[in-house]
Amino acid sequence: MDFTGSHILSVDQFERGDLYPIIEVARRMEPFARGRRVTRVLEGAVLANLFFEPSTRTRISFGVAFNRLGGAVRDTTGVQDSSLTKGESILDMSRVVSGYADVIVIRHPKKGAVSEFAEATNVPVLNGGDGPGEHPTQALLDLYTIHKETGRSLKELDGLKIAMVGDLKYGRTVHSLTKLLALFRRVEFTFVSHPDLGMPDTVIERARERGHTVRVTDNLDAGIADAEVIYSTRTQQERFKNSEDSDQYRGRYSLTRERFERSARTGAVIMHPLPRDSRPEANELDADLNALPNLAVFRQAENGVPVRMALFALVLGVVDEIEKESREAPWFRPKKISDLDP
Ligand code: NCD
Repeated sequence: MDFTGSHILSVDQFERGDLYPIIEVARRMEPFARGRRVTRVLEGAVLANLFFEPSTRTRISFGVAFNRLGGAVRDTTGVQDSSLTKGESILDMSRVVSGYADVIVIRHPKKGAVSEFAEATNVPVLNGGDGPGEHPTQALLDLYTIHKETGRSLKELDGLKIAMVGDLKYGRTVHSLTKLLALFRRVEFTFVSHPDLGMPDTVIERARERGHTVRVTDNLDAGIADAEVIYSTRTQQERFKNSEDSDQYRGRYSLTRERFERSARTGAVIMHPLPRDSRPEANELDADLNALPNLAVFRQAENGVPVRMALFALVLGVVDEIEKESREAPWFRPKKISDLDP
């Protein structure tokens, strides 16, 4: 696809060949993302970062990615602080914000709302999560993480064995990641969840019709036994009618170190889009996993910056300019946060 001027709304818009430039540019962004080098390639450009649902990582990493390219960021958070509470339509808001910014990131609680927003604008829109729908940039950073952590190049991702665990019904990250991995060949998916929170049929069918193996189970130990990557998720409590409804599913798929060492492959990579629910009744990934190098969740979150930088550089058409105007960062930098991991 031609990225320049494009929206990034769904992983459905990608073919396998589109993933190579994204990952390649993300790799080139690493020294800038980590603050070792500085570039001003997006100097003068403005990002409108509109978040109408809670977010920490996605909102900040989109903003940081834009800043690291030299651009400026305007954030809005929470529906209650926006004119959506005054009855403004998505289309009107889109028209208005398009007049202020050169690129827009939006997270919205309604599935499909981000695409609706994109229809009324003349600047690129990136989907930061639309309700239980999709989270395409998370899927791309997850792909980048799988590539880095397993040591498999994108060409070698065929045959990957991945277990996705938890709330697969409402978890938008696993919908997008499954559809993205379905672009490869012979992937073995194991979906581990309570039957009420299973992966949507449409997503399972997508994987099956492309010839992948799909197993569905409610047994965590059996489900993770053969996986190279274990991708855990949070019960998406905000998508349930009330907390009693969601509470009944909490804690069913808690992965502790003892359980991991007993049931998983030695080198298995543990991922989670974060936030992990660390309350005792949920405890999706126990803190005792922190000491294991297998726990990739913080490196995964850090990967959000180079991947989102790559997307901005691609949609704003500056990929070839980034290094030309770059230099060493002159300021003190603490060691990489991922160096804190074992
Ligand atoms: C996820 C999301 O918002 O979909 N978080 C994220 O973007 N890293 C997962 C979640 O909230 O459980």
